[in-house]
Amino acid sequence: MTPPTSHTTRPLLVTGANVGVGYEAARALAAEGHPVVLVCRSQERGEAAMDRIRAETPAADLDLVVCDLEDFDAVRQAAPQLAERAPRPLALVNNAGVYRARLERTPAGFERTMAVNHLGPYLLTRLLEPTLRESGARVVQVASAAHRSGKLQRSPLRQILREPSSYRGFGAYADSKLANVLFTRELARRWPEVTALAVHPGMLSTAIWDRNRTVGMALVRLIKPLMGDPADGGRAVAEVATHPRFDAHDGAYVNRTTVEPARLPDGADTLARELWEVSAEALGLES
Ligand SMILES: NC(=O)c1ccc[n+]([C@@H]2O[C@H](COP(=O)([O-])OP(=O)(O)OC[C@H]3O[C@@H](n4cnc5c(N)ncnc54)[C@H](OP(=O)(O)O)[C@@H]3O)[C@@H](O)[C@H]2O)c1
Repeated sequence: MTPPTSHTTRPLLVTGANVGVGYEAARALAAEGHPVVLVCRSQERGEAAMDRIRAETPAADLDLVVCDLEDFDAVRQAAPQLAERAPRPLALVNNAGVYRARLERTPAGFERTMAVNHLGPYLLTRLLEPTLRESGARVVQVASAAHRSGKLQRSPLRQILREPSSYRGFGAYADSKLANVLFTRELARRWPEVTALAVHPGMLSTAIWDRNRTVGMALVRLIKPLMGDPADGGRAVAEVATHPRFDAHDGAYVNRTTVEPARLPDGADTLARELWEVSAEALGLES
């Protein structure tokens, strides 16, 4: 007989779980007794993260799936592994993200910020659709207050996703975080069985600020000591991924753990539908 699966025995899938917000979320979840599947782009960094979590929580139930989210073939390979290893997930936490000060492209020719922050997680989520919907899972996008500066209507979405005519690091990041919020709203509309949430984890002192060698980012690094503790952000994400009180807020934006209105452009619902369709087209999926 299959044992009953309670809230705490269903696993959570957390992308980008080897450092920063994702690691802290995985650590907090494991400490609460949740099984966690870490989705990392490096086997070595993923295993090191699991070792750190086990050092604190020896009974932690952890698993690792390697997936580079900007490599869409890798996402297609990882999705069935995740569905097999975590058949009834409690939540998928799309946390992995990058900030790129200068325009970079993935080997497949996509603008990297949008590829890692939106298209990869979009693809992973779409490929996990049966398991997420059947299990009534939560789908959490780790977005950002930066979504407020997103301007996805400045040019056709196809162009923004693939061939941006101009590039500003903050603008591209803000666009990708607005895409996270819009994806959340559209998920809520399309998949009634899941609870979709977008969360801003706070302005946190993580490695995301260290990964660009530009004057602008050097200035941002100067204020890193004033930023929040990543552990606080991780705990907020863990709470948004698990606490039953968020069941009533499908499609919402959550600032740390407080539901509040996202700041969205006019026509956000139309834009959210268009983003879903154009993303599907870019990835060769049915919309
Ligand atoms: N820090 C903040 O103040 C802040 C504020 C608002 C929102 N956020 C959001 O929080 C999330 C986590 O950011 P963070 O601050 O924790 O940054 P971080 O410390 O740089 O961690 C980013 C994580 O994403 C992973 N990642 C990057 N590219 C990837 C790829 N192609 N495939 C798979 N994983 C990839 C990284 O893996 P590697 O270590 O292997 O590179 C790392 O695990 C992001 O979505 C970010 O936008 C952060």
